[in-house]
Amino acid sequence: MNNILSAKGIAKAFDDKVIFRGLDVDLSEGQTVALLGPSGIGKTTLMNILSGVMTPDEGRVTLCGEDITGKPGHISYMQQKDLLLPYYTVLYNVALPLIIKGESKKEALKKAGGYFEFFGLAGYEDKYPKELSGGMRQRAALLRTYIQSRKVVLLDEPFGALDAVTRRKMQKWYLGIAKELELSTVVITHDTDEALILADRIYIMGEGKELDVIELKDKPSDFELTEEFIKLKKQIVSYL
Ligand SMILES: Nc1ncnc2c1ncn2[C@@H]1O[C@H](COP(=O)(O)OP(=O)(O)OP(=O)(O)O)[C@@H](O)[C@H]1O
Ligand SMILES: [Mg+2]
Repeated sequence: MNNILSAKGIAKAFDDKVIFRGLDVDLSEGQTVALLGPSGIGKTTLMNILSGVMTPDEGRVTLCGEDITGKPGHISYMQQKDLLLPYYTVLYNVALPLIIKGESKKEALKKAGGYFEFFGLAGYEDKYPKELSGGMRQRAALLRTYIQSRKVVLLDEPFGALDAVTRRKMQKWYLGIAKELELSTVVITHDTDEALILADRIYIMGEGKELDVIELKDKPSDFELTEEFIKLKKQIVSYL
């Protein structure tokens, strides 16, 4: 499989505090990769670097072989607590990145509206964010992220604010759309189950500052119920 996004030798420190160094992350086309680790370990910092909104002290990020280190705007990025703006309709919220990019308002609203059915939001175009359920708000934020670009999507704790049942539903739903839309995704989570369910590969950021890697191939549809799942969970806990 082809690497679509690749980070090599990434280092970052804030003042004198080294967050990480020498990190490598690879994302193949159509794959989902999870970054898993405890709070404060540097997941968002690494994601900021992958997206180009932050420049690393060392290392390079390439997208389809092209250097995008420190260059934002090439990848869709849904940041942690990516809130919808309360005073705009859901449709306008979703279309906003396109309008900011310079598309005409009419075109942007039309394009955004075209995905509402697919993202489970049909009929809610003219509602305001507060009128949506948590899961719907999250789907709207994902749609807004998705329409910025179609290649690579970075998601920072996309389902963190949801209750366990809704979260599980959203994970299943995301697996479906990621496949259908052929998305390549990097997702941050501190939920081991979520990482195991969503990812083809898990990068574990632990106190050792190095990334441990778990490859997940040919997961069965009832993966969560298998002994393999429990075994991997134990392995991950030992890394953290
Ligand atoms: N802009 C910044 N300036 C200084 N320190 C920062 C900055 N951004 C992050 N840090 C520090 O870097 C460390 C890692 O932060 P980061 O936000 O990457 O963690 P995280 O793994 O995403 O945590 P969480 O799971 O809580 O979101 C923390 O100690 C944080 O205080
Ligand atoms: Mg974070």
